[in-house]
Amino acid sequence: MILHVFESEGSLACAAAVIFAAQILRKPDSVIGLATGSTPLGTYGELVRLYEEGVLDFSRVTSFNLDEYVGLPKSHPESYYAFMHRNLFDRINIRDTHLPDGQAEDLTGECRKYDEAIRKAGGVDLQLLGIGSNGHIGFNEPSDRFVYGTNVINLTESTISANRRFFDSADEVPRRAVSMGIGTIMSARSILLLAMGAQKADAIKAMMEDEVDPRIPASILRTHPSVTVLLDKAAAGGLSL
Ligand code: F6R
Repeated sequence: MILHVFESEGSLACAAAVIFAAQILRKPDSVIGLATGSTPLGTYGELVRLYEEGVLDFSRVTSFNLDEYVGLPKSHPESYYAFMHRNLFDRINIRDTHLPDGQAEDLTGECRKYDEAIRKAGGVDLQLLGIGSNGHIGFNEPSDRFVYGTNVINLTESTISANRRFFDSADEVPRRAVSMGIGTIMSARSILLLAMGAQKADAIKAMMEDEVDPRIPASILRTHPSVTVLLDKAAAGGLSL
């Protein structure tokens, strides 16, 4: 793992965008894996700026998002579909974007189709990840085993309460999500994980310094050959390295 610790969220976001920019400049038809949540917002802002300044052309890029809530219509402002359009897709010239369909009648079939679509596109070149304060990546929650492919996940109470801030009431927060599995994530050729804030410090320490363990799903990343981790000082606060 390559680790960089930044003084500010702004410089972290800029560094993340530079890594994506290098990927897209080197391979204009890159397949990129994207994340939602608060963590990638600064990075998406920087990617929009690089597009507006004529540095980046996304017209041949394909994207696959990590996950989507089950049961939330695309039109709901907190669906990940709406999030991605608002914060990135509608602001750059990307055309080929994919998210799991959380409203599919056959969710198991949808999971299989999603993995198949990633395979057909040639696999993900660069996958962006945030991390949950419980160590989840995508929505792969702490468990006694790693789940391989895209799957339907019952969100834990800790994730539901972390997501509560985006909804008007606790009842509205979805309880399930479709998420790329650990195997799907691990099959990306390169991975870029970002974390900001003291609330991520314990998960980052466990990911980087403890045993590989499905109870800290992100710890599997230690076995991947090409992972870059960008942290702010608070998220790096627990590291003894
Ligand atoms: C989002 C995702 C999640 C988030 C994680 C951190 O697509 O898969 O793993 O990256 O929950 O969320 P934030 O960035 O809101 O702290």
